[in-house]
Amino acid sequence: MENIQIDISNIFPFIQLEELNAYKALINKKVQMLNEKTGKGSDFLGWLGLPNNITQKEIDDIKNTAANLQKISDVIVVIGIGGSYLGARAVIEALSPHFKKKTNAPEIIFAGHNLSEDYHHELTEYLKDKDFSIIVISKSGTTTEPAIAFRILRKELEEKIGKSASQQRIVAITDAQQGALRTLANQEHYKTFAIADDIGGRYSVLTPVGLLPIACAGFNIDELINGAKKMLELSVAESFDKNPVYQYAAIRHLLYQKGKNIEILANYDLRLNFIAEWWKQLFGESEGKEHQGIFPASVSFTTDLHSLGQYIQEGLRNIFETVLSIETTHGQLKIPSDKDNFDKLNYLAGKPIDFVNKMAEKGTMLAHVDGGVPNIKITIPKLSEFSIGQLLYFFEKSCAISGYLLGINPFNQPGVEAYKKNMFALLGKPGFEKETEDMRQRVKKH
Ligand code: PA5
Repeated sequence: MENIQIDISNIFPFIQLEELNAYKALINKKVQMLNEKTGKGSDFLGWLGLPNNITQKEIDDIKNTAANLQKISDVIVVIGIGGSYLGARAVIEALSPHFKKKTNAPEIIFAGHNLSEDYHHELTEYLKDKDFSIIVISKSGTTTEPAIAFRILRKELEEKIGKSASQQRIVAITDAQQGALRTLANQEHYKTFAIADDIGGRYSVLTPVGLLPIACAGFNIDELINGAKKMLELSVAESFDKNPVYQYAAIRHLLYQKGKNIEILANYDLRLNFIAEWWKQLFGESEGKEHQGIFPASVSFTTDLHSLGQYIQEGLRNIFETVLSIETTHGQLKIPSDKDNFDKLNYLAGKPIDFVNKMAEKGTMLAHVDGGVPNIKITIPKLSEFSIGQLLYFFEKSCAISGYLLGINPFNQPGVEAYKKNMFALLGKPGFEKETEDMRQRVKKH
């Protein structure tokens, strides 16, 4: 099976090859810090060897649980937020057909990743006449958004089919020992999976957090893991100039040093939009610290060429672009000939739509490079579990090295707490009494 490829030829108008090669020693040092667990956040490196370390017993447990949920459910609601949601959604959306769910698999719906009352109200309405099950995912077990969604949906389920039948339809993925969700799951005898202490949310897609929903959606998790395994192999075996992970990490840092502080992840297929959302969390939450870090943005072309294209071409020159390009499509559709040719498209008659898409991609890349936007291209041979597994591990490892190049801890997220503190104070959560009055005064002023 073919591997994903990185093409860096369109960064060279902006950086010199010598500058890139000068990173060799530095990257080796950062990789050594990862391997020897001597860098910041080194107690969160469980993801590094995960593709090789996950056991057959764990995989079988996930597959059996998925098969059981598939058998009894029209719909499986996956509750979680951030790293406890984005990986599964990214993989499922990348692999699912555009217009229908995968055959013979239940519909997968995500919840607990927002606080929209309408979303949750409509969801409860939608589920009324469905056989549904719940996978609830929260490492801390205390995150507000999924806790609210779970409380609501659990009540709906219990009222519909009774407490004891509900217990067979709820799976909890959380810390092995601690947190409100662990306590509840133990008390209610739910099937559970534990998230290892040394794997943070945004690095957890290859644990049950990602694998169980992906298996429930009918996708091959063995191939996903094999893909990640292959990228792990490539990332340790290849020398600097052939190592996609090292090259990507080094180029990002080099461009950042030259003032390119926004990276746009571009795709030419809408199915990759949630890979971009996952990537944004991975890099944003890992690198945005100590007033540093590249801001991760994303676009889907050609759609967004008609909205953000102007800015990318001629706006502030602080951006670079990483393009996810799918080499081979699954289906084929040619542009038909038309005898009247009112739309003047006959010059394209007989050409597959993907040919037009690829020309748009090439033309855009050249225009953006001419306009001052460096371009990194990542080619995915075909959308499959194997290629997506490679891509996920590629980004995870690049992100860790990239974070170490910045000198920050890529594995914590202290800034995420700030909004929570204010929200809890405003909500009057017990324990936040002191902050509540102050918060209310500040909000009044606004
Ligand atoms: O990457 C992270 O650690 C975060 O995005 C978490 O995944 C997110 O905040 C959800 O946390 P939890 O799984 O504890 O509910």
